[in-house]
Amino acid sequence: MKLKEAGYEVVGVSSRSEESIRRFLKYVEGAKGFKNPEALLEEVELIFVTVPDDAIREVVASLPWKKGQKVVHASGALSLDVLEGARKRGAEVGSFHPCQAFATIDQAINNIPGSVFGIEASSEELRTLLERMALDLGGSYVFVPPEGKVFYHASAVFASNYLVALVGVALKLLDFIGIGKEEGTKLLLPLIWGTVNNIQNIGLPTCLTGPIARGDITVIKKHLEALRERDPQVFKLYASLGLQTIPIALGKGTLSEERAKVLKELFEKALNS
Ligand SMILES: NC(=O)c1ccc[n+]([C@@H]2O[C@H](COP(=O)([O-])OP(=O)(O)OC[C@H]3O[C@@H](n4cnc5c(N)ncnc54)[C@H](OP(=O)(O)O)[C@@H]3O)[C@@H](O)[C@H]2O)c1
Repeated sequence: MKLKEAGYEVVGVSSRSEESIRRFLKYVEGAKGFKNPEALLEEVELIFVTVPDDAIREVVASLPWKKGQKVVHASGALSLDVLEGARKRGAEVGSFHPCQAFATIDQAINNIPGSVFGIEASSEELRTLLERMALDLGGSYVFVPPEGKVFYHASAVFASNYLVALVGVALKLLDFIGIGKEEGTKLLLPLIWGTVNNIQNIGLPTCLTGPIARGDITVIKKHLEALRERDPQVFKLYASLGLQTIPIALGKGTLSEERAKVLKELFEKALNS
């Protein structure tokens, strides 16, 4: 839909499920639905293969690509080798990964503008086209070398999926004291937004606040004791993230080397217990 709005001709979609085809056509007026992917292939210059990562290689290898066609996947973790089946038949292959979290279709449409796209391509022509698409979608792009993909994607997992997991942990702790999910989310959201704003406006390490930045050893000991009793897994997670937070606090300059050493020992002891 966003590509169509940006002036690209969106010919159609193919899927195993008629329901998915109908849903696509509701969003992209004038496009055609193809039950058979071979028929779609006959009509297009470029295809995005947006099946789950584990299915990309097999789906691509099963199709009769023609020389000069372009096939692009949207995976952040995989490189171009999974498109080998198409490349062998003369297709140009690429990757166009929106570094963005698409939880629902409508939210995905809203989140696309401003996103950064990780791009890889087997030809100059396809690379230029994908760059232009990223810009036309209101975003920007980075080139991710094949050997760097694993860290690029693990980084995205930390910044997005594990952020959700951390909020899940924070809500669990509030639940211990009788604050439910809805109320807890309301309580935490201003803190989360404030933190994200600080990351955007002042960046790391200055945006770090809290007991590690202040070197509040007594408070941290209390947290560790309470968590060890109540939830041993969260206790270990607290200690593990604490270790990652120490260098940021040192970088900010508000945590002394002496207190950092004490905290490091506390966290390591917790992890080894
Ligand atoms: N979701 C995100 O936030 C996000 C962000 C960036 C990049 N990506 C990338 O985008 C791609 C798709 O991700 P997604 O989250 O949209 O995946 P998804 O919702 O799990 O799957 C997309 C569709 O693929 C079809 N499908 C599933 N298994 C298949 C198979 N074995 N053969 C053929 N079709 C199959 C299904 O469509 P039908 O039911 O119609 O058959 C399914 O709705 C992945 O490469 C992912 O890494 C996702």
